[in-house]
Formats: sequence, structure tokens, C-alpha cells
Amino acid sequence: MEWTFGWWQVSVQRVYPTTTELSKTYNQAANWWHQHLRLLGYSHAYRELWQSLKNTNLLPHSKDSLTICDCGIGTAAFSLAFAQTINPATEITGVDISSEMLNTAHRLLNQAKIRHQICQSDVKILPLADESFDAVISAHMLEHLADPTQGLREMVRILRPGAPLILVVTCSALPGWFIQWHWGNRCFNRKELFSLMHEAGLIRLQFVLFPIGLAHLTSFACIGFRRDACF
Ligand SMILES: C[S@@+](CC[C@H](N)C(=O)[O-])C[C@H]1O[C@@H](n2cnc3c(N)ncnc32)[C@H](O)[C@@H]1O
Repeated sequence: MEWTFGWWQVSVQRVYPTTTELSKTYNQAANWWHQHLRLLGYSHAYRELWQSLKNTNLLPHSKDSLTICDCGIGTAAFSLAFAQTINPATEITGVDISSEMLNTAHRLLNQAKIRHQICQSDVKILPLADESFDAVISAHMLEHLADPTQGLREMVRILRPGAPLILVVTCSALPGWFIQWHWGNRCFNRKELFSLMHEAGLIRLQFVLFPIGLAHLTSFACIGFRRDACF
């Protein structure tokens, strides 16, 4: 943002935390993160979201085992909700920059008997093969990236052609701005996110709202499908 007053120009630019700073912040949050998600209703909201997507038949189904990559898995709340609602035979690859969040994710996925592997990596350079997942999912991670297109392109690269990417992001509104103030993330509106997803090679984009509750005020979801041919 830039303003000009007479002969003076004032500009304000967002500064994002570095990957090291962010992983340190999330390492410290790992102890309480999962419990807070539950208390604030996000774990429930994630299950409701998967149920509503299941009802629309947009998600891959009727396979014995699905291979899913959760980018920015945190403590695995979004993945657990997926496996519990869509398919318990899901095999999850959980990617995160925070080792402590990954340790908790590993423990909780083990407890729930969900096959998984964890991968400490930055989503911008995923050490995963092209076209290897039936779906990629990601909740509240994209808003941490200074260049979301780079992360989106990586997520699309590892999707099988025609497979879905399901994103949950913080929305541009008052509750989102409070979250942004604390965590140093950004917020999205629907138009911005659609345009980024389209640019990254996703088609048939759809917007999904959370049911009434805190998640409805802070977040929204979008689903898009990888074009059959590589972009
Ligand atoms: C707001 S938390 C969301 C965690 C989980 N998806 C959930 O809904 O509870 C964001 C997560 O993304 C991870 N993250 C942030 N930037 C990342 C990046 N560039 N690559 C991979 N993970 C990242 C953080 O470490 C953190 O665990």
C-alpha cells in the first residue's frame, strides 16, 4: 500500500515470518494446539465440512485405500476428520515444517490406527513424486506463504490428473484480521483464492462454507480439480 502526501510517499508492506521463525512458533504451540481446536469447535467443523463434501460426491470414493497428502498437517485434525468421515483406510502423508506438530500428528494418527507417514518439509519444495496422490488437503497453511502460488503449484504437481485439492483458509473479515495480527498470516477472499487456484492449474472450483460456529466466521473452504493435462 502506498500513499502520496504532497512531495512525500508513504508505503506499508507486509513482512512474513521466515520459515525458521514460523516453525519455532508452531513447535511452541504443539502442546496445546489440538485441544484448542477441539474446544473452539474446529475439529467438529472439519468433520462437518468433509460430510458435506461427501454428500456432494465430489471426493474420490469407492477405493479400498486413498492416498492423501495433508500440507501443513499440524496436529492432524483435518486428516483425522477426513479419515473418520470419508474413508478409514486412507493413507496419509503429513507435511509440515514444525517437528513438534508432526510428532503430535504421528501420535494421534497412531492412536486412531490410520496408516500414515510424516514428512518434515516446506510445502514450496515437496520431496514427493509427481501425480502420486488421490487428493491433497490443506487447512490454514496457505495463508502463511508469502507466495501462495508457489505452494499451490507444488500441491497441484503431486495430485493425480483430475484429483481434487481441498483448501481451508482464513477469510478477510474482522475475526480473520485478529488471527492475522497474532500469527502474522494473511487472509483471502473468495475471488483472490479462486484466481490463485486457477493460475496453479485447478479447474471446476467450488466454494464451501462451514456450518454456523466459529469456523464459519473465520474460515472458508474451496475445492478444485487438477486439469488432466499438466499445466
Ligand atoms: C494454522 S496451522 C494449521 C494446522 C492444521 N492444518 C490444522 O488445521 O489444525 C498451520 C500449519 O502449517 C504449517 N506450515 C506453515 N508454513 C508451512 C510451510 N511453508 N510448509 C509446510 N508447513 C507449513 C505450520 O507449521 C502449522 O503446523
